[in-house]
Amino acid sequence: MAKNVMHAVQYDGYGGGPSGLKHVEIPIPNPNKDEVLLKLEAASLNPFDWKVQKGMLWPLLPRRFPHIPGTDVAGEVVQVGPGVKKFKAGDKVVAMVNPLNGGGLAELAVTKESLTATRPPEVSAATAVGLPVAGLTAHQALIQSAGIKLDGSGEEANILITAASGGVGLYAVQLAKLGNTHVTATCGARNLEFVKSLGADEVIDYKTPEGATLKSPSGRKYDAVIHCATGIPWSTFEPNLSANGKVIDITPGLSAVANFALGKLTFSKKQLVPLLLSPKAQNLDYLLKLVGEGKLKTIIDSKYPLTKAEDAWAKSIDGHATGKIIVEP
Ligand SMILES: NC(=O)c1ccc[n+]([C@@H]2O[C@H](COP(=O)([O-])OP(=O)(O)OC[C@H]3O[C@@H](n4cnc5c(N)ncnc54)[C@H](OP(=O)(O)O)[C@@H]3O)[C@@H](O)[C@H]2O)c1
Repeated sequence: MAKNVMHAVQYDGYGGGPSGLKHVEIPIPNPNKDEVLLKLEAASLNPFDWKVQKGMLWPLLPRRFPHIPGTDVAGEVVQVGPGVKKFKAGDKVVAMVNPLNGGGLAELAVTKESLTATRPPEVSAATAVGLPVAGLTAHQALIQSAGIKLDGSGEEANILITAASGGVGLYAVQLAKLGNTHVTATCGARNLEFVKSLGADEVIDYKTPEGATLKSPSGRKYDAVIHCATGIPWSTFEPNLSANGKVIDITPGLSAVANFALGKLTFSKKQLVPLLLSPKAQNLDYLLKLVGEGKLKTIIDSKYPLTKAEDAWAKSIDGHATGKIIVEP
């Protein structure tokens, strides 16, 4: 008889960090009409995952307890809902699980057809699975918020990318360099050479007094900042921006939202723009194509088996990963 239960990692309430995670055997989920069921080959963690556990998105998320965290998954389709057109059993895919439901830290997971993309054979599951949240956020910030054209056809733009050694930052640096840009990036001392190797034109150590000012070593003013770090006030960005410079804040707090509103009210040309990911499979297809062509790479910080998911969780909470943290069933 086919196995109808699976190993999953879940938590029963807010808080608890890594020790709040429990390993359980639960029934394999059934795909709804527009969903596919995947046997997972890899999942990747994002700070979003532990922020939900911490209650930072209360009362919106999670929808209910127990909750299986994890949004980014890669695997093989084992079953499709009756309305699914693009996929069939046996297809290798990468997907973003509906963040309202979660489900990525498990042996199998259901994903919406509309947030699932075919994984080209030349792109490994561990490489592809870094892309959904981090890659799509970097892409959206550059294309939609900063207006960069990745075919290089736009006017030259000076871009600052903060936390360039992190999941979003590493994709942002590489994608920005496909456009007509000069990229300044921030990271810690141990990652200066690494971030240069991603294509950044100049790199500053965020822990030095000069680095903390975010000043471009070559004296440039930034047309856009892809702000992937946290805790930097507007007063630090403002003197470094060009006349119409924008700070695209991917971790906007209340002050960022207030700043955005104030900027609109006062018709200020320099603006702080909050970003919330709006994931699209066509953009995931595009990123997978770039990876397949060797124009974009995923840097893997570390890999953990699902049985050690709490170690991966602790590593993500620690906030010092260089690249993506991967969990493999
Ligand atoms: N709005 C959205 O939809 C959205 C989507 C994705 C992510 N996010 C948010 O974006 C943030 C970044 O996500 P991520 O996945 O890139 O995180 P991550 O991979 O955990 O980032 C870790 C990296 O950030 C570096 N870092 C931390 N503080 C820094 C600073 N002040 N200056 C320079 N580098 C710094 C660390 O370097 P060291 O080890 O040297 O300190 C480390 O390499 C998170 O807050 C996440 O929740 C939001």
